[in-house]
Amino acid sequence: MNKIFYWFFACSFLIVTFEMPSCLAKSYMSLATDQTALLALKTRITADPSRILARNWTSSSSVCSWIGVTCSLRHQRVAALNLSYMSLSGTIPPQLGHLSFLVSLNLTSNLFVGALPQELSLLYRLKFISLRLNNFTGDIPPLFGQLPKLEYLNLRNNSFTGSIPKSLSNLTNLQFLDLTYNSLHGEIPQELGRLQSLQFLVVQFNRLSGAIPLAIFNISTLVSIAFTGNELSGSLPTDMCHNLRNLDRILLSQNYLTGSIPTNFSKCSQLRSLSISYNSFSGQIPAEIGSLTSLQHLYLGGNNLNGTLPHVIGSLESLVVFGAERNQIGGSVDFNVFMNMSSLQTLLLWRNKFIGNISRDVGNLTVLTSLQLHENYLTGLIPPELGRLYQLEELLLERSSDPSMPCLSLSRRTSS
Ligand SMILES: *[C@@H]1O[C@H](CO)[C@@H](O)[C@H](O)[C@H]1NC(C)=O
Ligand SMILES: *[C@@H]1O[C@H](CO)[C@@H](O)[C@H](O)[C@H]1NC(C)=O
Ligand SMILES: *[C@@H]1O[C@H](CO)[C@@H](O)[C@H](O)[C@H]1NC(C)=O
Ligand SMILES: *[C@@H]1O[C@H](CO)[C@@H](O)[C@H](O)[C@H]1NC(C)=O
Ligand SMILES: *[C@@H]1O[C@H](CO)[C@@H](O)[C@H](O)[C@H]1NC(C)=O
Ligand SMILES: *[C@@H]1O[C@H](CO)[C@@H](O)[C@H](O)[C@H]1NC(C)=O
Ligand SMILES: *[C@@H]1O[C@H](CO)[C@@H](O)[C@H](O)[C@H]1NC(C)=O
Ligand SMILES: *[C@@H]1O[C@H](CO)[C@@H](O)[C@H](O)[C@H]1NC(C)=O
Ligand SMILES: *[C@@H]1O[C@H](CO)[C@@H](O)[C@H](O)[C@H]1NC(C)=O
Ligand SMILES: *[C@@H]1O[C@H](CO)[C@@H](O)[C@H](O)[C@H]1NC(C)=O
Ligand SMILES: *[C@@H]1O[C@H](CO)[C@@H](O)[C@H](O)[C@H]1NC(C)=O
Ligand SMILES: *[C@@H]1O[C@H](CO)[C@@H](O)[C@H](O)[C@H]1NC(C)=O
Repeated sequence: MNKIFYWFFACSFLIVTFEMPSCLAKSYMSLATDQTALLALKTRITADPSRILARNWTSSSSVCSWIGVTCSLRHQRVAALNLSYMSLSGTIPPQLGHLSFLVSLNLTSNLFVGALPQELSLLYRLKFISLRLNNFTGDIPPLFGQLPKLEYLNLRNNSFTGSIPKSLSNLTNLQFLDLTYNSLHGEIPQELGRLQSLQFLVVQFNRLSGAIPLAIFNISTLVSIAFTGNELSGSLPTDMCHNLRNLDRILLSQNYLTGSIPTNFSKCSQLRSLSISYNSFSGQIPAEIGSLTSLQHLYLGGNNLNGTLPHVIGSLESLVVFGAERNQIGGSVDFNVFMNMSSLQTLLLWRNKFIGNISRDVGNLTVLTSLQLHENYLTGLIPPELGRLYQLEELLLERSSDPSMPCLSLSRRTSS
């Protein structure tokens, strides 16, 4: 009797699985899992002003037809979720971790809040995560370190606190990391040096402190390093560029960096933006900077630089902005130096120790829109050639606040 029942059940099971191809059964079941996960997300939505999900995400239609949902052709499972710019408020349910075929999660520009559930670490196929422009709080969860395929992680403009988790160094495929505009503190983990695919390392406007680990300058894939607006200290390695031959921009303004400007730039030959203004760099502007012939933006203002303007900056023929204001640079300004910079729009040399007069050559800088020479010790006449600067919108020549110094007695703002 028992045996007969056994055979009966075994056979019927076989017949059922034979008649209904197992892959179909599996995909039906699994797509149902995805539906459950997304409906769980829908119940966590507290505001949906355009009623997009309320109207469209209904169990009567296939998940794959829902707005923001893309299914993979091969597995018929949810592969991408793009809810960007939908003005949704709410929290992320743990069930989202059941979207096991998810490759891309895009929640850019909504008002999701709260912490990220640990279950997201189950999404091992994820390559792309953007939570940019939300209000997630809590620490950046170590779970991201468990997503081995992750290539893109953007957490910009949230309210994450704590420090950068060391576990991120696990992401050997990561190409893009942006943690700008959060409230992160602590040091930059030197373990990030293991991210040997990283191209964009962007952590601006947080409260990171300590020195930039040498290991960062060892990531030869880097195209962009940006730490503007933190509390970083220490100095930059002289041979900073040794392994950074692809570097396009390095933005380190508004920190507490000290020491001299690195001298060996020869290998950063692709560099287009060098921004180290508003730190405490000292010494002279190194002549080696002249080898950065692709530079378009050079910001050196707000440091303790002295000496004179090196003549070699004349080789930076692509410069659009040159800022060296608020330093102690002296000597006369040789406007001839800027003669070959046919795109130079902004020249900021104010609050330094420049002496001498403004030479007629200034009239050759014909695309200048802003010329700021005020608060120096310049003397003599205002050359009529300034009148040739037709694009000029801003001209500042006012005297130094030091009353004992002679000066040009003109202060004028024009606007076109
Ligand atoms: C949901 O939106 C998609 C894309 O606009 C549309 O194709 C689908 O028919 C909508 N479904 C429902 C139930 O409104
Ligand atoms: C994501 O959604 C936004 C807004 O609907 C759209 O502009 C963008 O093209 C989508 N991106 C992808 C990769 O689907
Ligand atoms: C993510 O959303 C942003 C903003 O809508 C869009 O530009 C981008 O293409 C999206 N990317 C992906 C992979 O969905
Ligand atoms: C983000 O959340 C924090 C803390 O919960 C809150 O103080 C802040 O006002 C929120 N910001 C936005 C833009 O909603
Ligand atoms: C690093 O990745 C491995 C393999 O994917 C994983 O087992 C481990 O938990 C990860 N470590 C951390 C700290 O996330
Ligand atoms: C990102 O956050 C910063 C600082 O809170 C804010 O100034 C900026 O406007 C935000 N960006 C966007 C696009 O909202
Ligand atoms: C830089 O990389 C080289 C070669 O991969 C390695 O030997 C060296 O220890 C690294 N330096 C730092 C500071 O990480
Ligand atoms: C700059 O680097 C080059 C090549 O790595 C090297 O030959 C040279 O000595 C370095 N110069 C300085 C001043 O460090
Ligand atoms: C320039 O600054 C350096 C470093 O602060 C200092 O040693 C040097 O004496 C200064 N040179 C002049 C001419 O003031
Ligand atoms: C500008 O270019 C000319 C021609 O290449 C060159 O002779 C001159 O030295 C350059 N001027 C400066 C300041 O680099
Ligand atoms: C600069 O302008 C003067 C005329 O004011 C002209 O004679 C001279 O050739 C110009 N120099 C260059 C390098 O263009
Ligand atoms: C600059 O100074 C020199 C010598 O002191 C003088 O000959 C020349 O006229 C002055 N030029 C201007 C534009 O003030």
